Amino acid sequence: MSLILGLEGTAWNLSAAVVNEERVVHEAEATYKPAHGGIHPREAAQHHAAELRGVVSRVLKSLSKIDAVAFSQGPGMGPCLRTVATAARALSLALKIPLVGVNHCLAHIEIGRWQCGAEDPVVLYVSGANSQVLAYRAGRYRVLGETLDIGIGNALDKFARHLGLSHPGGPKVEELASRGTKFIHLPYVVKGMDLSFSGLVTAAKDALKVGEEKEDVCYSFQETAFAMLTEVTERAVAHLGKEEVLLAGGVGANKRLQGMLQTMCCDRGARFFVPDAKYLKDNGAMIAYLGLLMFESGETTPIEKSAVKPNFRPDEVEVGWRTVALKALSERLEE
Ligand code: ATP
Ligand code: FE2
Repeated sequence: MSLILGLEGTAWNLSAAVVNEERVVHEAEATYKPAHGGIHPREAAQHHAAELRGVVSRVLKSLSKIDAVAFSQGPGMGPCLRTVATAARALSLALKIPLVGVNHCLAHIEIGRWQCGAEDPVVLYVSGANSQVLAYRAGRYRVLGETLDIGIGNALDKFARHLGLSHPGGPKVEELASRGTKFIHLPYVVKGMDLSFSGLVTAAKDALKVGEEKEDVCYSFQETAFAMLTEVTERAVAHLGKEEVLLAGGVGANKRLQGMLQTMCCDRGARFFVPDAKYLKDNGAMIAYLGLLMFESGETTPIEKSAVKPNFRPDEVEVGWRTVALKALSERLEE
């Protein structure tokens, strides 16, 4: 059985974990909280550099037999990615074990499939920087629809900041929204399968300016943005004839978003999966787990190809691990 160390640090959360095929064996994290405003990439990277030793030693203390070290190669903030990649390279060289560069978005998806037992879902991946609808087809996760400007998490964080709330804003907007009662019309922007959220943030700020209550604006913001996301997800399910929907990314913790997707799935007879909140947000276990899948299908990353990729897209990756899993399954069925 393989034992893989995973390092995550694309943005706010520095996190390490050790996993095997069966479970998450150890995990530890250190969270960067901006003193004011949003995430500052250089400050976050300095936080990660200062905490790396402690976080890694908490998951490695009683374990010497690690088979490979996986790290988030991208997408994410350049300074944060470089800090964590440097640590991963150093560990790989010191322990004489292979390095596995992992796509952070695909790691969000694969830990969700693992934790929930989803087989072939349409994935709604909603986090700070990203908002995408994806599905696997012919060797890759295809991006079927995505935001044309900012991610939904960033939109919520920006609006929360405007309300004077600290980062991360998503949970605070959720709390205020639960007390809102009046629906205020805000721009609903779906273009084909793509989405846009920046006009929504501006319109929500304008609504406050003309005296609307912040609870009502938060409520209307969520209703509008989440209906857009649910519409695009539903269209993907309908077009592809898939029977499962998987939620991934930090915004997935939002109960109203979960509720809308659940209703849509019930109406269509699809199954809806949400992993535990700790595996929705950024976490080291997801990097270790996708690292394990890649390592076991023979995909490792030589040092000279381990440069970070701040704009690494999920559809750039040839997915070898799913075909390996399918082959293993059909062999077992033939036995
Ligand atoms: P990525 O690199 O994948 O974009 P990320 O750095 O944004 O990841 P995540 O942990 O996946 O990190 O997501 C963080 C986002 O999730 C933040 O924008 C935060 O406000 C949002 N969020 C967290 N909890 C909630 C919630 N309950 N409702 C809405 N948004 C939430
Ligand atoms: Fe993330």
